[in-house]
Amino acid sequence: MKKNIKSKVSIIMGSQSDYKIMKLTEKTLKKVGVSFETKVISAHRTPKRMYDYAKKAEQNHIGVIIAGAGGSAHLPGMISALTHIPVLGVPVESKKLKGLDSLLSIVQMPKGIPVGTLAIGADGAINAALLAAAIIANNDHRVYKSLKKFRIYQTKSVKKKPK
Ligand code: RP5
Repeated sequence: MKKNIKSKVSIIMGSQSDYKIMKLTEKTLKKVGVSFETKVISAHRTPKRMYDYAKKAEQNHIGVIIAGAGGSAHLPGMISALTHIPVLGVPVESKKLKGLDSLLSIVQMPKGIPVGTLAIGADGAINAALLAAAIIANNDHRVYKSLKKFRIYQTKSVKKKPK
């Protein structure tokens, strides 16, 4: 990877139905000033799209991939198997098992192919953005400063007394 080119975050999700959660990832990346792209890619419905995307990800200057998926959520693991870019998985809440299936599918990757797994649903979608930003911040001082500001603002917003 060329160090002097700014890298972006790529948000992918298995279905349009995941977007109601994954748009929180977009919103959070915007807050901390990280550029991103967003795509729908399904490991089982669009396997060729998934393969072509993963194989071109490095040349497209993607620094971190955030993959949201629900149910038998193999998308993050498959993407991680096809690229060396760090992959963060967001388990999307499923109708039948409330996302426990998504969580276990993503978190229980056998050794050799890692996926950094976040919490189920909204918390995971937001934290995936913050973690991706922290990875990008290692080589981007502007994002580093923006993340620091975010933390200071967050700390200040916690009132000492309940209303
Ligand atoms: C997964 O199946 C997606 O990530 C989504 O969370 C789940 C349900 O997809 P839809 O049936 O809503 O398209 O592939």
